[in-house]
Amino acid sequence: MSNSWPSGVGRLVLPEVDSTNAQAARMAQDLSGPYWIMALRQTKGRGRRGRDWHDPQGNFAATYVSRPGGAVEQVAQRSFVAALAVHDALVDVTARPGSFALKWPNDVLLNGGKLVGILLESIGQGAQVGHLAVGIGVNLLHAPEGEGGALRPVSLLSETGISVTPDEFLDALAPAFAKWENQLVTFGFAPIRQAWLNKAARLGERIVARTVHDSHEGTFEGIDATGALLLRTAQGRRIIPAADVFF
Ligand code: BTN
Repeated sequence: MSNSWPSGVGRLVLPEVDSTNAQAARMAQDLSGPYWIMALRQTKGRGRRGRDWHDPQGNFAATYVSRPGGAVEQVAQRSFVAALAVHDALVDVTARPGSFALKWPNDVLLNGGKLVGILLESIGQGAQVGHLAVGIGVNLLHAPEGEGGALRPVSLLSETGISVTPDEFLDALAPAFAKWENQLVTFGFAPIRQAWLNKAARLGERIVARTVHDSHEGTFEGIDATGALLLRTAQGRRIIPAADVFF
């Protein structure tokens, strides 16, 4: 772990909280700059699409709260920033490049199982809109049942035998996140997109994308310049901005 904590970024570690994303929402208006809020245990962690996220002691749960500014599109692209940062932090703490893969839109996989969940939430309403919460959960020690959604949940410990503490993981994650966020702000989405594609799981293979209303099967061709999924189906190419993907 060679990188140092990013300057100007706060760090708060709580023994227990309902949800670090909820805590970020409570604190956002009083923060003068970006902050990492980590909890050693969450009692009401939340996942995507209203699912619960179980977070026993020893797993990583943290939220990066900031006021990103810029176009709405670029704000949402921080989900890819988060996935790349988590990927790099995992390589940093395990020294195992090539073990981790990225699943659209923003999961990180290990040995085909779900290791990481990422949940972006905007904070505030009306004139108050402007803060973004990037919540990240990593199964460092435990792989709670039912957490993987479409995939089998796995833990870093069970798959690699490597034990990493939440504090150690945050030390690796915060600089990696700052690096990729800086790339996004400076150069736009293109380098993020390319880096993400280089680590994408099942590129060129058959997948199923389920939206709220439909299910589409086809070949995963990549992501477009906004981050939407590109799927080649029997009916032609589909551009899918939001869905759950099944392998
Ligand atoms: C998913 O469904 O895959 C997303 C899970 C996101 C979980 C993290 S843990 C830290 C942060 N706080 C929450 O309540 N959720 C996110």
